[in-house]
Amino acid sequence: MGVQTSRYPGFYRLSPAERARWVAEQVGLSPEEASLLESGGLTVAEADHLVENVIGRFALPLAVAVNFQVSGREVLVPMVVEEPSVVAGLSHAARLARAGGGFRAGSEEPVMRGQIQVVDVADLEAAAQAVRAREEAIRAAAEAATPSIVARGGGFRGLEVRRFPETPAGPMLVVDLFYDVRDAMGANAVNTVCEAVAPLVAEATGGRVVLRILSNLADRRRAWAEVRIPAEALAAPGFPGERVVQGILEAQALAEVDPYRAATHNKGIMNGIDAVAIATGNDWRALEAAAHAYAAREGRYRPLTRWWREADGALGGRIELPLAVGVVGGTTQAHPLARVALKILGVASARELAEIMAAVGLAQNLAALRALATEGIQRGHMALHARQIAMAAGAVGPEVEAVAERLVAEGNIRLARAQEILQALRADHPPEGA
Ligand code: MEV
Repeated sequence: MGVQTSRYPGFYRLSPAERARWVAEQVGLSPEEASLLESGGLTVAEADHLVENVIGRFALPLAVAVNFQVSGREVLVPMVVEEPSVVAGLSHAARLARAGGGFRAGSEEPVMRGQIQVVDVADLEAAAQAVRAREEAIRAAAEAATPSIVARGGGFRGLEVRRFPETPAGPMLVVDLFYDVRDAMGANAVNTVCEAVAPLVAEATGGRVVLRILSNLADRRRAWAEVRIPAEALAAPGFPGERVVQGILEAQALAEVDPYRAATHNKGIMNGIDAVAIATGNDWRALEAAAHAYAAREGRYRPLTRWWREADGALGGRIELPLAVGVVGGTTQAHPLARVALKILGVASARELAEIMAAVGLAQNLAALRALATEGIQRGHMALHARQIAMAAGAVGPEVEAVAERLVAEGNIRLARAQEILQALRADHPPEGA
């Protein structure tokens, strides 16, 4: 599966309908699937099945980032996001990455952690040993509770017992179960498993079970991506490539030593990852929780990416983070547009999706750092702001771009000026139908 090429110079110049048509042709969307792009996909009746007390729907832009190559495959990246510059930045960074062959990505097996908390335990060490001795019985109970995951090759992958002799609520034991959830995000499966084996744990420890729930710090389900870009490919007007590399490394250095910067650095990474998560019906709060907890795993909050200069001057970069995402179950299937987004991505497994999302995070970070290290991010924002002002002045179709370009070139992004430019433009080229 997949597209022949994700490269489309000037994609941003097309109308939404033209872009949708091109994407539909590339990935073979049926007319019904293509029509969901306009309708938003989810009916109120469908929404009413997803959550409680529904009164309507809330639309957000669905966009596609172009130019991506991940592990030798061409990928179109669907993104649901309301923030200007995120999609453009990502497409641009993906184009720069092509100069070095795109992104290489990998991932671990989709193993999640479930936690069973036990209190009122007389002897923590003896209780821990008793749980370990019951591992086979726990495996059997766990797998009996999730036959469909076992049928697909997933299932129990071991357990660990950790002791907390001193907590504000007294001594306690935590039994961590490791469960391969295959192509699901896995929260439901893991929670089911925790509840199913809790009585065995209570019996083995003689204690009282309290929590039975997955951990969102999915650090056994990491994905990573790497990129290598020749310095000259990173050049920007007035900024030779080596200077851009230098600026990116300086930005990285601040994120390494300062959590205030690292939080913003990682926020930019999650701009891209969350947008793909939402488009594919995945739980972006779970991804956020995992990413930030993982960023702080060494006791200090750190950036999720690393950037360095290669011996030949090229920029090297790597991201690694937990990515608990699914392509089956939950909203990935319940939301008709999430299925379309998965088809656009051309992914068949949760691991493939996670690998693309890792590459998206790395690319989004590159886009931000390159902009910050050169002209700053406001110029890009200004172009979008100018388009909004052009539309407010009444520009339609190709007029929007023409008026916006003039506003930016003049450095005067005001409604009154937009109206003047529009008037002059229409005097030369009356709009269709006028
Ligand atoms: C804005 O949403 C994201 C950035 O602030 C990220 C960064 O500073 O690295 C541009």
